Amino acid sequence: MKNTKISELLNVTEVDRLVNIKGWVRTKRGNKNVAFIAVNDGSTIHTIQAVVELSNFSEDNLKGVTTGACVSITGILVKSQGQGQSVEIQLKELEVLGTADETFALQKKGHTLEFLREIAHLRPRTNTFGAVLRIRHAMSFAVHKYFNEKGFFNLHTPIITGSDAEGAGEMFRVTTLDIQNPPKKEDGSIDFKKDFFGKETNLTVSGQLEGELGALGLGLIYTFGPTFRAENSNTPRHLAEFWMIEPEMAFYDFNDNMNLAEDFLKYLIRYALENCKDDLEFLNTMYDKELLGRLQSVVDCTFERLTYTAAVDVLLNSGKKFEFKAEWGADLQKEHENYLVEYFKKPVILIDYPKHIKSFYMKQNEDGKTVRAMDILFPWIGELIGGSQREDNYDKLLARVKEMNIHEESLWWYLETRKYGTCPHSGFGMGFERLMLFVTGMTNIRDVIPFPRTPMSAEF
Ligand code: 4AD
Ligand code: MG
Repeated sequence: MKNTKISELLNVTEVDRLVNIKGWVRTKRGNKNVAFIAVNDGSTIHTIQAVVELSNFSEDNLKGVTTGACVSITGILVKSQGQGQSVEIQLKELEVLGTADETFALQKKGHTLEFLREIAHLRPRTNTFGAVLRIRHAMSFAVHKYFNEKGFFNLHTPIITGSDAEGAGEMFRVTTLDIQNPPKKEDGSIDFKKDFFGKETNLTVSGQLEGELGALGLGLIYTFGPTFRAENSNTPRHLAEFWMIEPEMAFYDFNDNMNLAEDFLKYLIRYALENCKDDLEFLNTMYDKELLGRLQSVVDCTFERLTYTAAVDVLLNSGKKFEFKAEWGADLQKEHENYLVEYFKKPVILIDYPKHIKSFYMKQNEDGKTVRAMDILFPWIGELIGGSQREDNYDKLLARVKEMNIHEESLWWYLETRKYGTCPHSGFGMGFERLMLFVTGMTNIRDVIPFPRTPMSAEF
């Protein structure tokens, strides 16, 4: 018999009919007369209960029904007699598809998140990761839905690149050269002309530069793909492989950019509140009693917008002793970002950063000191979005490239867009896992991606 998803069965009113479910046993309990098997199939946080009358079903037949086993259960769907569930299944036929003995790691509830990270191959079977991964799907879907509704085109930018978009210089090399014995040039350096692409290549840190090429022909585009950073940051907010969403918009100035980013974030959070109710309520109960309230408050508020310079003033006037001193020209630290978000009690959009702490492509302001950058800071997370209006003037852009010692030749195609039909344009990047941290209330980024990649860790 074809199985029905548990999420569907829990919502039906039509009972007293034969159904089949397939899923994994969470618990088996009962007494001499009756056994209760709780099964989850991943379609919902809830389990459905199968009731076994032991008078016509011998205990022997239930041997394989242990926590973690995969079962197929056929029976009559009935209104539940007990508390806590609307329907249950009176078991008629049972098949154990896959046994799980007592060495199965998820025997009882209440494992720490740290422990679950060590068994990432099994953690999709837990309530917590079921909830997180369903929400992750919903958020991914909502990203595409949002941009599609706004007339953006999804552009697939390359994962292997020959340029370093952020100028961060911390990239993973892509090569087919024999690392034990690479071909050398006369001066002893490695001859990348002999490499697969005939040049040095890396995994991309951002799809932005290619995204701009798309926007300067298609108007409105967005990317949504994996990005890679080889920085050795072992923090609860950094991954070596993460997913980024990068919209890029022709004819948007930095105000339009801010408006879009704020609207986008509220749309996503509202989508979660409306479509992930059960999972969010579970996380709210189990991990973070303020989660739902915090999500709603972001949807309801207007983000604070202020310049980097004004933000530094707020920090200087705070009277607070920071570990890193706040001073104009220095990058804001996590503690500074936290202070600002707490001070305004809502998300903060900071603009007009000093140019020397930002990327080469950002539009320069008239003051000669700042650029039209925008960072969106969120409670708990810190920087959720980074973006800017782009420098669309060829000479100014080239001057910046030279000043910052960026390899000009490898960017010829990017620079050409400013020679032929350039226009004002803007964009931003949102780290998908940072959004997931905010939406789920999880506090470690390793717990919002199925298989995290961090320094010294790529097991699964
Ligand atoms: O601020 P970033 O470096 O900006 C860019 O890459 C631009 N090209 C974006 C653009 O304008 N199109 O990264 C953007 C966002 C950050 O705000 C953060 O949310 C996330 O990506 N991010 C990371 N997330 C997880 N792990 C990391 N190591 C991250 N680094 C950045
Ligand atoms: Mg940034």
